[in-house]
Amino acid sequence: MMKSSEIKKSFLSFFEKRGHKVLPSSSLVPDDPTLLLTTAGMVQFKPIFQGDIKPEFTRITTVQKCCRTTDIEKVGHTARHLTFFEMLGNFSFGDYYKKEMIPWAWEFLTKDLGLDPNHLWVSVFTDDDEAFKIWKDDVGVDPKRIVRLGEDSNFWSAGPVGPCGPCSEIHYDFGKERGCKNEDCTVGCDCDRFLEIWNLVFMQYYRSEDGKLTDLPAKNIDTGFGVERAASILQGVKTNFETDLIGPIIDKISALSGVNYGAAEKSDISLKIIADHIRAVTFLINDGVIPSNEGRGYVLRRLLRRAIRHGRLLGIDEGFAFEVASVVIDLMRQTYPDLKDNLDYVKRIMVSEEERFLSTLKQGLGILDNIISVERSKESAMISGDLAFQLYDTYGFPIELTREIAQENGFSVDDKLFKELMAGQRAKAKAARVDSAFESAGQVHLTALDSFGKTEFTGYNSASQETVVLGIIKDNDFIERAGEGDEVEIILKETPIYAEKGGQVADHGVIETETGRLLVNHAFYPAPDLIVHKARVLSGHIEEGQRATASIDISRRASICRNHTATHILHWALSNALGRHIKQAGSSVDEEKLRFDFTHFEAIPPSTLRKVEKMVNEKIMANLTVSFHETSLEAAKAAGVIALFGEKYGETVRVLEVGDFSRELCGGTHVSATSDIGLFKIAAESSIAANTRRVEATTALLALNEFYLEEDELKAAAAILRCGDFEVAKRTQALQEALKAAEKRAADLKRRLAGADIDGLISSTQSLRGVELIAQIVQADDIDGLRSFVDILKEKAAGALVVLGASKDDRAFLLAHVPLKLIEKGFDAGEIIKEISPLIGGGGGGRKEMAQAGGKNPGGLEAAIERAVQYVRKKDEGSS
Ligand code: SER
Repeated sequence: MMKSSEIKKSFLSFFEKRGHKVLPSSSLVPDDPTLLLTTAGMVQFKPIFQGDIKPEFTRITTVQKCCRTTDIEKVGHTARHLTFFEMLGNFSFGDYYKKEMIPWAWEFLTKDLGLDPNHLWVSVFTDDDEAFKIWKDDVGVDPKRIVRLGEDSNFWSAGPVGPCGPCSEIHYDFGKERGCKNEDCTVGCDCDRFLEIWNLVFMQYYRSEDGKLTDLPAKNIDTGFGVERAASILQGVKTNFETDLIGPIIDKISALSGVNYGAAEKSDISLKIIADHIRAVTFLINDGVIPSNEGRGYVLRRLLRRAIRHGRLLGIDEGFAFEVASVVIDLMRQTYPDLKDNLDYVKRIMVSEEERFLSTLKQGLGILDNIISVERSKESAMISGDLAFQLYDTYGFPIELTREIAQENGFSVDDKLFKELMAGQRAKAKAARVDSAFESAGQVHLTALDSFGKTEFTGYNSASQETVVLGIIKDNDFIERAGEGDEVEIILKETPIYAEKGGQVADHGVIETETGRLLVNHAFYPAPDLIVHKARVLSGHIEEGQRATASIDISRRASICRNHTATHILHWALSNALGRHIKQAGSSVDEEKLRFDFTHFEAIPPSTLRKVEKMVNEKIMANLTVSFHETSLEAAKAAGVIALFGEKYGETVRVLEVGDFSRELCGGTHVSATSDIGLFKIAAESSIAANTRRVEATTALLALNEFYLEEDELKAAAAILRCGDFEVAKRTQALQEALKAAEKRAADLKRRLAGADIDGLISSTQSLRGVELIAQIVQADDIDGLRSFVDILKEKAAGALVVLGASKDDRAFLLAHVPLKLIEKGFDAGEIIKEISPLIGGGGGGRKEMAQAGGKNPGGLEAAIERAVQYVRKKDEGSS
């Protein structure tokens, strides 16, 4: 039995011996904005086939990881379909062609792999007599086993537009007993008898958007050999799922679920789907894809959700995906060592997505069960479109699952209504998104484009432009002349004024003719290549056809440029600090700030933000050149320039380079050296959607201002705290501790007072001929404690003269309070204290209303209180 690792090794060495350079697999995320995923070995070589770049080697061989979802519904139901697979390939860029390739393929299969020629069949494109002849004469294949097939199966292209060509496929025949058993079953039949193992593409054409084929600069070879399929033949098993590449994954799922492979057809399908999908999910996450609701993030989400759902069908209700993924990683880490390095990362993303889905699932499945049983009781087998939509819209329950579950129950889903509701929702979302940047071309703008053609933007290098007023629009109509105060739209032949695009706001500026002056406060593209200025006539008037000078507000533009270049550096710094899964999800640049949205799964800790901020500032200080050049989209991609997925680019693109570390496609305006940015400061980091973060920042003087604001705040705090700037934290902490202690003491006192016998004190009031006197020794720790008693007595026994004493350890305290009424009668708390405090061996004083004393002789307390009584009595006698 040949191990899959041996199959890969012998393929690579077969071609290495024939002058091929062995290159590593490229990422599943292609460097190509027109492709969602890497679906074949040739993807990384597309620009070479198209002649956009010259290859370093003309013969290459690879093992390529691939992901395709076109056959997702067939996975698990057939022996051979997979969403993730490995493709062995050899490529010739204008080097060898059919005459070498066909005999080599035969040699490798029959000699190196030792396949029995009696099991091999081949197909060629309908009119490819050349290939037919080589198979028949050079290789010696029986013509009965060479089948001519049409465009459907024997003409290969990577997409509707791009390199393509006729192909010749090699199939393995398992024999009549393994198929549909129809008499006319032959190569091309959909059953499991014939297995396509190797596709030899004779890449010689380019298909353009209108479907026309033209010759590529050279004749090339692109072959794709399915590793899993070859392994199934060489290991004598019936399906890909029993090979050494996938079998151990199935075993793990069996162990987790307690369901054996082979026990039943239905559970086998689930086992196969989980094994395939978790393989794909593991590799997608490893290559930086993050679950989301669109693009490849959605492919990932869908695959993982399907796997989880099938897990539940096997009775696994808990999270299990990563346990399965661990087996995938073990099996594949030798070929793809980064799987091991990224293990923790893969685990984190997988587990959190799984948890999120399990809770959605629980809720949605309950609701769906209910719907199905209600419909059943009405003898209906249809899930209405609005219920399916509600499940999706309100509960996040995927429509594919609703469909699958419906099908399992013999139900169908009213797709028509569902789709209508979805379309309505999309339209609503779109309407909510409309802003000035996306004003669509009205009739007047289309007419303008027809009559005037494209507007030439000259503002990359100059701030002012001599030009001609081609059109003036007011209230959606062309006018010939606009006067002072008029708000109009102006179309110029050329303009240096940047129109809002690619996240960068429009310039402000001025348009002057010999008769008038206009202030431009916005510019936009109502249609590609047409720039419309929104302007107000400040003075005089303007006429169609006049010569004009358009100039930009230079200092505002300079601020925008700083923020824009800083955004590119920030992008680089974030990928550096957080990892290569960082992908731009949006950006916005104006004269005050920049905003950068990107895929990432968790909040960024302050220390990392500081690191990113520093990295950006280091690049600023390094005074690196910022330059741009124009090139073709293909060449830019081939050179590894970052492009935004889903963004439409023209044939010619601008590549912006900052130093030697950042290269992005960008049509915006930029500084010419990084030091022009001056300073960079991050203002905020936040989440804007699941797995999408936002960093906001400022540059130059506004960044400095941010620092000033913080410094001012610190200085204000220091002034209040009466300490130095760098002592604020320490001092605040000390104050906080003191406050806490005081609060605790106050609470203690309150508790104690509440328990103290206030009523007893009140009932001890002596009436000394018109003066109510409370003079007692109480339980208190200090003067504050005594004051708390007085505070309460002031309320409960208003009008009474109070003299209280207390002692703690070897200290004694006295407090006297005289109400206003008695002050008027000549009583004085200060005098009382002066009179009695010597008895406790201390002194004190205060005001007429309240006075206090502390002393070292607690033994004298009673005498002091007694003296107070006497004093009052005497005073009272004296005053009456
Ligand atoms: N590009 C062809 C395929 O994917 C051969 O590699 O089948």
